[in-house]
Amino acid sequence: MSTVEPLLPYEWPGSFFIGEEEMEAVSCVIRSRSPFRFYGHDLQGYVQKLEDAYCARTGQPYALAVNSGTAALSITLSAMDVGPGDEVLLPGYLWVSCIAAIVRAGAIPRLVEVDDTFCMDPNDLEQKITEHSKVVMVVHMSGMSGDIERIAAIARKHGLLLLEDCAQANGALFRGRPLGGFGDAAIFSFQLNKNVTAGEGGMLVCADKMLYDRAVAFHDLGYPRNEQGRLITDNPDLQLWGQGSRMSELSAAMMVAQEQKLDEITAAMRERNHYLYKRLSGIGGMKPRQVVDPQGDSGAFALLIWPDAETCRAITHATREAGVRPGPLGLNNVTMQDWGLHLYYNNLSLVNKRGLNSSGYPWTAPENVFAADYAYGRGSLPYADQLFDRTSVLQVPPILDFALCDRIVEIFSECAEHL
Ligand SMILES: Cc1ncc(COP(=O)(O)O)c(C=O)c1O
Repeated sequence: MSTVEPLLPYEWPGSFFIGEEEMEAVSCVIRSRSPFRFYGHDLQGYVQKLEDAYCARTGQPYALAVNSGTAALSITLSAMDVGPGDEVLLPGYLWVSCIAAIVRAGAIPRLVEVDDTFCMDPNDLEQKITEHSKVVMVVHMSGMSGDIERIAAIARKHGLLLLEDCAQANGALFRGRPLGGFGDAAIFSFQLNKNVTAGEGGMLVCADKMLYDRAVAFHDLGYPRNEQGRLITDNPDLQLWGQGSRMSELSAAMMVAQEQKLDEITAAMRERNHYLYKRLSGIGGMKPRQVVDPQGDSGAFALLIWPDAETCRAITHATREAGVRPGPLGLNNVTMQDWGLHLYYNNLSLVNKRGLNSSGYPWTAPENVFAADYAYGRGSLPYADQLFDRTSVLQVPPILDFALCDRIVEIFSECAEHL
């Protein structure tokens, strides 16, 4: 183990900006003794304010705050009426929540290659569409999107619903248009690792009123509510099986303050990210990930593609030893192989087609026999596999000092020379 002190700050962007505004907003909820979103002594309406902010940010007409990004994914797929007999297309670079939401809906995940953006490859998407495809779940990984315009056009052409997972790309744009506004629906996460945070929380936005009404019911016991915040039980279209995924006013108060800082946070990360990409490019043969729209990248991640797996491993190890690593609670400057459940083949519940219960459902459902030959182990996406093998992940906290950026470049340079 290295004796050099860790140089990197922790990689939790929004957390560095938690301050007076968050404290004041949360105190306001506490003073009003009204932490529940639907009624209270003196409701402050922070959840509503946050939803309004996400409509404005994404350009979508409807927004629903929930208690996590994972819940937002599940609720959206339920609202889209995804179930047995359906498949959802998603890229091989993802997060476990994306797959879990599909399987928990009773549907089948269908893996799509990634390209050098590390996001869904539109060419492979076209190849993978079948008669069972219902939704394209595009995952804007590591801070930005791939060619979302083309993906949206393909989804439209084939009559598929488009769900954007913006959990890792909050505040990012594509050619001037905000992510989250390209599809039928989009989700966000406010967990600690995200660009803005309340520790926990999520958001879904969507284009269609019925989709929204169904999402509202699914997130809250299965029924909508009236103006007084009481459950409406006599609407036959909205008597569903819901979950307990409401956002509290406390989380929303914190998030309203954080959301106002989002553009400042992404601007800071983007500037540092560009600087690092520019200065690190070429060192040891490193090529950055393809960034289609540099101005739209939220900047949270620099993905460094090395000539081969051995160089990737060696340089990551050497630079970590020389201090390019965070404290013990962080995960930064790691090889993608150490990036766990972000790689499809590291999700052993997927690889082994684990059921929701001992019946093996949904894999064993008669409507899903079409997927009997689908495989999810390493080798299923050869292009993604070789990219994962030779890429390392450098997260770019918004408070990273430029002098420290220079020191990081110096260390990479020295380590590359000694390889
Ligand atoms: C791409 C992606 N989708 C969904 C989620 C789930 O968000 P949460 O942790 O809020 O449930 C995450 C969180 O890490 C994520 O990275």
